[in-house]
Amino acid sequence: MKRAIAMLMAVTLAGSVVSCGNGKKNDKNANSGKSVGIAMPTSTLDRWNSDGKFLQYRFESAGFDVDLIYSENDATRQNNDILAMINKGVDLLLIAAVDGTKLSGTLETAKEKGIPVVAYDRLIMDTHALTYYVSFDNRAVGRLQGEFVRDQLALDSGSDSYNIEFVAGDPADNNAKYFYDGAYDVLEPYIESGRLVIPSGKDSFDQVATPEWSMDKAKANMKDTLAKYYSNGTQLDVVLCANDSTALGAAQALNIVYNGKNYPIITGQDGDVANLKNIVDGKQAMTVYKNVRDEASVTYEVCKMILDGEIPTSKLVEKLPIDVSFDSESYNNGVKYVQSYLLLPSVITKDNMQLLVDCGLYEWDSAHKYLELTKTS
Ligand code: GAL
Repeated sequence: MKRAIAMLMAVTLAGSVVSCGNGKKNDKNANSGKSVGIAMPTSTLDRWNSDGKFLQYRFESAGFDVDLIYSENDATRQNNDILAMINKGVDLLLIAAVDGTKLSGTLETAKEKGIPVVAYDRLIMDTHALTYYVSFDNRAVGRLQGEFVRDQLALDSGSDSYNIEFVAGDPADNNAKYFYDGAYDVLEPYIESGRLVIPSGKDSFDQVATPEWSMDKAKANMKDTLAKYYSNGTQLDVVLCANDSTALGAAQALNIVYNGKNYPIITGQDGDVANLKNIVDGKQAMTVYKNVRDEASVTYEVCKMILDGEIPTSKLVEKLPIDVSFDSESYNNGVKYVQSYLLLPSVITKDNMQLLVDCGLYEWDSAHKYLELTKTS
């Protein structure tokens, strides 16, 4: 694996790196007349709106026409939306799948028409039509959550035991299992030694998965767990939530049902505005932030090479002003290993939120208390 070392700016804090590259380029005339179809899973989460905005900006400012669609977590609708873009004759498809296992038929049509397909953030399964995958190191996301819990509870010293519950993501999203495994791998030794106890006994991905990453489903599951295993006053110390929407659901359930005197450590992922507010208010301990502007920039460079008839390789990472690795051995989509460009996630807590402002992605509100998405970048 090779790593690009050139970074426009990198700040190390809380053991993590927030990369703030932007890599804007302008070659408008060369690209005019070419079009890109971008399919995002849902507009109900901050992150996908940011992804869509940054991707559209990168391609349009380079002269491409862009079709940007959100299929609101409906896999059938996403298939139809993508088919419409294929029929319209887009030159490349960039897809963050609603359900990574349900696109192979549609993508066969893309392949027949010679339209390259790039998977964005989530791997697309069971298809030879896929040419490249751009994402974050998904296992590292879970690992950062697990390490955060380990360090907060000082599990490598002392002898106290703590109660933990897991809340995982959507089984239809290939990333979700990577997140869970990354976190579980870090915490497993402490579960085995008894330093961490799971009162519900739910210790497999399938038992704690949350369809559609739904906040409401996470809330309902957490309420159920609290009612069954904690109503007698048992203390809950950690809710390891895979992302921010599930973390919001867990926090809401705790508000309603939990009687314990403590407030558990809640993890998250994405840096959604509501969760950053909860972090300031002490209702969530951390989020794993993925700089989606950098993800969009790397994706643009990969797609641009494909559209120019070139073949992206590991060499591309050396040219990028963003810390990214090329990996052709980790992501198998069921029929082949997909060549992947992987960015690095970072931990955000109450103490280092300023990093998100320094990157130009968020700004403080007028009271300088909470963050909001910046209107200018
Ligand atoms: C994942 C993505 C996460 C989170 C989640 C919920 O695929 O990598 O960042 O957004 O979906 O939409």
